[in-house]
Amino acid sequence: MRNALAAAALFALLFSAPVAAEELGATSAKFWSAPSVDALPYDAHSRLIRHGRDLITATYSHIGPDMPDRAQRFAGNNLACGNCHLHAGVKKFGLPLFGLAADFPAYSARAGAEITLQERINSCMTRSMNGRPLPISSDPMRAIVAYIQFLSKGVRRGEKLSGLGAGTMPELDRAADPARGRDIYQARCIDCHNVDGAGVQNSLPGLGAGYAFPPLWGSDSFNDGAGMARLITAANFIHSNMPDGVDYLHPRLSVEDAWDVAALMVSKPRPHRANLEKDYPDLLKKPVDAPYGPYADSFSEEQHKFGPYGPIRAKLKEIEKEKGEVKNPNVK
Ligand code: HEC
Ligand code: HEC
Repeated sequence: MRNALAAAALFALLFSAPVAAEELGATSAKFWSAPSVDALPYDAHSRLIRHGRDLITATYSHIGPDMPDRAQRFAGNNLACGNCHLHAGVKKFGLPLFGLAADFPAYSARAGAEITLQERINSCMTRSMNGRPLPISSDPMRAIVAYIQFLSKGVRRGEKLSGLGAGTMPELDRAADPARGRDIYQARCIDCHNVDGAGVQNSLPGLGAGYAFPPLWGSDSFNDGAGMARLITAANFIHSNMPDGVDYLHPRLSVEDAWDVAALMVSKPRPHRANLEKDYPDLLKKPVDAPYGPYADSFSEEQHKFGPYGPIRAKLKEIEKEKGEVKNPNVK
C-alpha cells in the first residue's frame, strides 16, 4: 500500500504539472545522494570537512555573537546555517548546500558581478546571520568551503541536481495576507517558534547555545537583506519544510496557508541592513519579491513584498522589450 502510494506520488510528480517536473530538477537522470561525512577517515582534510559540518549545524558555538573570544564573533545572531540549510545542508528543497561548488564563481544579480563560493557564504554571513564576513583564509571559512566541496563531490559545473532551492509552488492571484497568516501562525507555528516569533533557546540566554526552535523575526533573526526575507523564498521553504519534519513530498500546509503565514513573517520587524539600495545594480534582474526598492517598475513596495506578482512580471517584460528596441547609435 505504501509503495503504491509512493509510486503514485512519484508518477504524479513526474507527469502532472510542469511545475512539479521542474521541482524535481529533472535535467539529471542520474541518481545521486549526498556523500556521508560519518564515513570519512580521521585524516587532516576529513577533520576540516567535519569541522565545516559543525559550523553549519552549530554556527553559534564557533563564530556566534556570544563567543568568549571577541575576535571569533562573526555571526550577529544566534542562528545556525543549518536552521535554513536543513539537515546540515543535505535536505532536498530544504535549501541544500550539495552539488553546487563547481558552479562557482557564478554570476550574482544581487552583486551585479561574478562571485566566488566564499563571497556567497559571506553574503549569508552578512544577511542571514546579520554579521560580518569571514576572512577568506580563516579556519571557519576554509572548513565551510571544504564541507560544501565535499557535498559536491563528482558533480560537474552546470549539472543541476534534483532538490536544489526550496521548491516552486503555484502563486496566488491575490496579495498574500499577513492578517490571515496570523491565525495560521497561532495554529501551526507558535508551539515551536513561540509567541512573537522569538523562538526557544537551547539554554539560558548568553550561553551561546543557539536555538532549539529558531526565531522568525525580531532582533536575533536574519536581516531585511536576507533571502528568507523575500516572500517567494520564504513561502516555498515553509511549504516544503514546515512544520519541522515534513518534506516536499508530504507538505502539511496548503499552498494558500504557506503564502499567508510567510506574509506574516515578512511583515514583521527584523534587523536592518545598510545600503540595500545598492543591491541589484541592474534593476531588471531584481527578484520581484525583493522587499526593498528601488525597482525598475512603479509598483509599490507593498506589492513587491506581498504580491500578486503576475502584473509586475508582465510590466518588467514590457520594459525589457522597450529597452531592447532602443538602437545603440554606436553600432552601425
Ligand atoms: C535565515 C536562513 C539562512 C541562514 C541562517 C543561512 N542561509 Fe544560506 N541561504 C539562504 C537562502 C534563502 C539562500 C538562497 C538565496 C536566494 O534565493 O538567493 C541561501 C543560499 C546560500 C548559498 C548558495 C546556495 C546556492 O544554491 O547557490 C550558500 C553557499 C549558503 N547559503 C551558505 C550559508 C552558510 C555557510 C550559512 C551560515 C554561515 C548560511 N548560508 C546561513 C538562507 C539562509
Ligand atoms: C515542530 C516544531 C516546529 C513547527 C510546528 C514549525 N517549525 Fe519552523 N522550524 C523548526 C525548527 C526546529 C527549525 C530549524 C530546523 C533545523 O535547524 O533543522 C525551523 C526553521 C524554520 C525557518 C527557518 C529558520 C528561521 O529562523 O527563519 C522558518 C522560516 C520556519 N521554521 C517557519 C515556520 C513556520 C511559518 C511554521 C508554521 C507554519 C513553522 N516553522 C512551524 C521547528 C518548527
